[in-house]
Amino acid sequence: MKSLRGRLLLATMLVLVGMWMLWSCLHIASMTSEHTGWWDKSLRDVAHQIITSLPENINLLSADSRRLQLPANEKAGHDDLSFQIWGSDGTSLLRSMESPTVPLHPNFQDGFSIEEVDGRKWRVYSVQDASGKVHVQTGIPWDAFKMDLKHWIKGAFLAALLVFITLALTLKTVVRWSLKPVTCLQQDIAERQEYDLTPLPTKKLPLELKPLIESFNRLLLRIDTAINNERQFIADAAHELRTPMAAIQTHAQVAAGSTTPEETRAALARLVTAVERGTRLTQQLLDSARLESNYGVKHERVDLVRVIKLVADEFDIVAQQRQQTITINAQPCSVCGDVDELGILLRNLLDNALRYSGQGSRIELMCGIAPSTDGITLCVKDNGPGVPDPEQRARIFERFYRADQDHRRGSGIGLSLVRRIAYSHGAELEVTEGLDNRGLCISVHFPVLKNDTP
Ligand SMILES: Nc1ncnc2c1ncn2[C@@H]1O[C@H](COP(=O)(O)OP(=O)(O)OP(=O)(O)O)[C@@H](O)[C@H]1O
Ligand SMILES: [Mg+2]
Repeated sequence: MKSLRGRLLLATMLVLVGMWMLWSCLHIASMTSEHTGWWDKSLRDVAHQIITSLPENINLLSADSRRLQLPANEKAGHDDLSFQIWGSDGTSLLRSMESPTVPLHPNFQDGFSIEEVDGRKWRVYSVQDASGKVHVQTGIPWDAFKMDLKHWIKGAFLAALLVFITLALTLKTVVRWSLKPVTCLQQDIAERQEYDLTPLPTKKLPLELKPLIESFNRLLLRIDTAINNERQFIADAAHELRTPMAAIQTHAQVAAGSTTPEETRAALARLVTAVERGTRLTQQLLDSARLESNYGVKHERVDLVRVIKLVADEFDIVAQQRQQTITINAQPCSVCGDVDELGILLRNLLDNALRYSGQGSRIELMCGIAPSTDGITLCVKDNGPGVPDPEQRARIFERFYRADQDHRRGSGIGLSLVRRIAYSHGAELEVTEGLDNRGLCISVHFPVLKNDTP
């Protein structure tokens, strides 16, 4: 059953029916159980009362003596309980009107028994007074006994039915009333505009639903932030793409309009640079988008030395062209992460070091266990100009930020990717001075790799 109302109703009804049945069984047992039940108790009580209220000279009474009559305005009730008083010699001294003329218990034995008198079954209690003068017998016909029980069950059933119906109606109303704020909330959500991610009101909500809606509001807030970031990213990316596109167009037009082969060559060379920049920017944007879609990817043990060697090999030719030296200083170590993302991280750090440190510079790639924390550190150092201004240093990880403002050199996305990858790996970034007391060193401190990590 999926409805809350239905579940509540069903659970309450089942408990109630169960309790009612238990109570009825106990009640029936308390009425019918032998010797201690209500009926047996009333048979015994009446017999005892009769004995204790009889005069000593009761045996002087004769069964034929005339009986007293009820007043004219009173009608004789037909009580099921009958009694007989017998003398010690077996003569009938007194009996109730409905009682049979023969003894209910023919052998006058004290105690309870079931007897058949004139073809009718009776529950009988028989008792003799202390002096043995009289014998009192009380009895209820078995069919009256059964009828009584039937009446009681019927009454109890009808009463229970009434209670159940009233309760069901009350529960239904209470649940509907309690869930009214939820219905309002549902209307509020249905009427909302696209991208309206303002938090839902929690003021009139039932206490039980508040945490759920509060969590939902937190989710809305996160989605809102993510959407705003995406919007900003798309706007920035479009803006950034405009520059190489405009340059491509201009240089292509110049090349088309040039009259001498030298002019054409120069324009085409500038065109190639602009295309390279456009391609690079597109690649960075693609990496960025890939990182977004990689969210929640499963991390595995990654050999950092292997990643360093692979990335260094990729940049070998570029470094040779600029007479730059790449040194690898790597201790065997692994981190828990995604090998592709770690490749992007290192590629961007090495690319920056090569790009910004200039001709003939030195770059060092390092990885190993940090003695102070036992975590793994990966760093890329160069001996170029670095970023000496602390304010600029603090901002280099921001998306689209460039410290040198030279638009031909980069788009300012690389280090923002580095930061995102580092954070998704639980790593911290540190920017310090590079080689020869100059340049830049960007260190990535990974957390301690646990033994049970894959
Ligand atoms: N090793 C370095 N030496 C000097 N400056 C650096 C170094 N690394 C980064 N920078 C500065 O930080 C800025 C941001 O770097 P980032 O890698 O984010 O962008 P980018 O290199 O300009 O563009 P791209 O997205 O193509 O990598 C750079 O523009 C540069 O000014
Ligand atoms: Mg870069």
